Amino acid sequence: MKNYEIEAAWEYHNGTKHPNGILLDRLHTYHPANRPLPYKIYKNRPQIKLTADKRPSGVATLDAISDNTSNENARQVPDLAILSKILFFSGGITKTLRFSPPLGDVDFRAASCTGALYHIEMYVVCTDIPGLESGVYYFDPKNLSLVMLRKGDYRKILSNATASEPFVLRSPVTLVFTDIFSRNSIKYQAREYRHAFWDCGTILSNSLAVTSAHRLCSKLILGFVDSEVNLLLGLDGKNEAALALLTLGHVEQDLPSPPPLDKIAEPQEDGLEFSAINNMHESSSLTESHQVSIWRKKMDNKPSKTGKEAIKLADYIITDASLEETIIRRGSTRKFSHDSISLEHLSTILKRSTGSVVSDFEDDTINDIYVIANAVDGIEQGAYFYNKKNNSLEILKKGDFRSVSGHLGLDQSLPYDASVALFFMADLQKVLEHFGNRGYRVAQIDASIMGGRMYLASYALHIGATGLTFYDDEVTEFLSPHASNKNTMFMIALGKKAKS
Ligand SMILES: Cc1cc2nc3c(=O)[nH]c(=O)nc-3n(C[C@H](O)[C@H](O)[C@H](O)COP(=O)(O)O)c2cc1C
Repeated sequence: MKNYEIEAAWEYHNGTKHPNGILLDRLHTYHPANRPLPYKIYKNRPQIKLTADKRPSGVATLDAISDNTSNENARQVPDLAILSKILFFSGGITKTLRFSPPLGDVDFRAASCTGALYHIEMYVVCTDIPGLESGVYYFDPKNLSLVMLRKGDYRKILSNATASEPFVLRSPVTLVFTDIFSRNSIKYQAREYRHAFWDCGTILSNSLAVTSAHRLCSKLILGFVDSEVNLLLGLDGKNEAALALLTLGHVEQDLPSPPPLDKIAEPQEDGLEFSAINNMHESSSLTESHQVSIWRKKMDNKPSKTGKEAIKLADYIITDASLEETIIRRGSTRKFSHDSISLEHLSTILKRSTGSVVSDFEDDTINDIYVIANAVDGIEQGAYFYNKKNNSLEILKKGDFRSVSGHLGLDQSLPYDASVALFFMADLQKVLEHFGNRGYRVAQIDASIMGGRMYLASYALHIGATGLTFYDDEVTEFLSPHASNKNTMFMIALGKKAKS
């Protein structure tokens, strides 16, 4: 099986490392005026206008993001109003900013996205639910509507594609997250395939939080026969491909046979293809349902620890900032002050952002979290390992590493100025040996969901945050020997915003 020929993932990962990855052209340039249209336009299809209730649901952000396992057994069918909220607060347009020409007005979305290129699309596959008839729909963020692509109950196709995964089998609604590769590779070239999962993960953090706030059970599914899901959505798997499924709700009902799969006329996207992206996607694809059942097994990972001096953390701060208000306020901080944040803030963000997600890879030890503290009241400046299990920070080295954190985040001022820089790191060899090349998808998305939750936790506490890109090998080198066998999957910086 190609998925277990894991040199493919290593070739991609090593080839897309800053600064000298051989799959990246250092002379490549991108001008924002060439930004592709960040949504699809389907012609002559029925549209269902959505109204998203933006009022606070009364659930605090920190509670909504903490964990989604407590709803595991909840039995509920979402109606169109709840579905609209999930879609809007995941992928909807929350603000429009005016830039000088040729850029003009740019819409920004509920979740962060590298380069604001919004290459992740969302689709709905459902049975009849209150307010919406069964079908396959594209979520159009520009018009806040659902575009009907197929009429009828097609859920059995998802169930077959996931080898009858129990949540998919019983789910009245499943969201499918896809990526249009060229929309983001126009700027980031082959490194786009990392961004695919980063930007899908930050959206998923929002979806999971809204789902939790409505006490709706959900499960994140990364194991499926790629071609079957793509065919259902009318995608070719090369220009646009499915990355993840999220089941919503539970019904006890046998799945009917699906209507025939007619061809869907796709809007044209004329982006340049990068063979490195297509190769990596294909090498991590599952081609038959029995491969999916084999793939779906728990990893036996032992959490890392240092055994060194540890600072015990507690879940200190309670704020009732509502989830909806936090998502609408969220944005990536463009300038940090050097002001410190408190240890209570950092503890709260770490604890609340790293809870379990119900998923088919079921592991919350895939990524370890490393912290460079530049300015945190209550702890010395230095590099730390976050021991999730003990909820403690273990000191790796003491010192002023502001310049180091600035350098590791691609020599940008954001990680230099921030109070804290965090790195999510996985033992990639171990993950790939277990999950095959598809483990690359797992490791990236596991990290980015925590990153997305950190955005929300920070904003709930009125602290700024931004995702960042990084010099891969130098992060590992700096955090070694503790991180010597690990690779960085995601980076985020936190701190107080500079006054403008
Ligand atoms: C994974 C990730 C990496 C990012 N990397 C950078 C970066 O290196 N430099 C930067 O200035 N912004 C970075 N950003 C911020 C994006 O540019 C920002 O999310 C996008 O412009 C959308 O704006 P918003 O987050 O304010 O909605 C990153 C965002 C994410 C999610």
